[in-house]
Amino acid sequence: MGSSSRAALFCFLAVASSLLHPARSDGEDNQLLKGINSYRASLKVPALTENSNADCLAEQLAKKFKGQECTNTTGANTVPGTEPQFPDYPQFLDRCHLNASVTEDGQVMPACVPGLVADVVLTNYTKSQYNRFLNDTKYSGVGIANEGDWVVVVLSTSTDSGDYSPAPPGSNWAPSVQPFSWMIVSLVGFVVLLMK
Ligand SMILES: *[C@@H]1O[C@H](CO)[C@@H](O)[C@H](O)[C@H]1NC(C)=O
Ligand SMILES: *[C@@H]1O[C@H](CO)[C@@H](O)[C@H](O)[C@H]1NC(C)=O
Ligand SMILES: *[C@@H]1O[C@H](CO)[C@@H](O)[C@H](O)[C@H]1NC(C)=O
Ligand SMILES: *[C@@H]1O[C@H](CO)[C@@H](O)[C@H](O)[C@H]1NC(C)=O
Repeated sequence: MGSSSRAALFCFLAVASSLLHPARSDGEDNQLLKGINSYRASLKVPALTENSNADCLAEQLAKKFKGQECTNTTGANTVPGTEPQFPDYPQFLDRCHLNASVTEDGQVMPACVPGLVADVVLTNYTKSQYNRFLNDTKYSGVGIANEGDWVVVVLSTSTDSGDYSPAPPGSNWAPSVQPFSWMIVSLVGFVVLLMK
């Protein structure tokens, strides 16, 4: 391999690994999932399994919340019925290849805890208005993301109206996939050119 193609390969690997880099602080999300599942086990309710589409939506929402301050009216402290509405929600669904009809029965639960102290985060779910969802057998899947002081837990069901299954190809999510595919195609093209 010549030095220029080696440089190209290195460049490709660097870009590829940054594209594939998993969301940071996955450890905290796993810890919260474990806590939620032990809570469910103590109630004899089946454990939640990870749902990657719910995960994607949680990530979009967490990014949206990031930077907002925790107050006694945000997150788990919200008075039921005053939950923030998300104007960008349809866009988030789109980005996650989801159609609103598969998220209807799901549940979105944001919490804000300064420093994301693990114990406090867990009690924000198990000892708040959210516990009535966490203790429910109706929910079988979960997606968790955190950004800044915010954690977002999204619950999914095993039914068509809440399983967060991706929209079929050809439906409205197709356009949002294109830029990513184009990036890969042009990256590969770039490397091939350099290797010649
Ligand atoms: C939130 O805190 C403010 C002052 O810190 C207080 O006036 C208000 O009643 C609190 N609201 C709730 C819902 O606890
Ligand atoms: C969701 O999909 C159904 C059929 O699969 C379609 O009728 C409906 O318009 C879609 N909803 C949205 C918001 O795209
Ligand atoms: C949730 O977290 C907040 C910190 O943002 C804390 O003040 C509150 O006590 C927690 N609520 C529960 C039920 O653990
Ligand atoms: C779940 O929590 C709600 C509210 O705290 C309670 O009314 C309900 O009985 C609980 N259900 C189970 C299965 O523990």
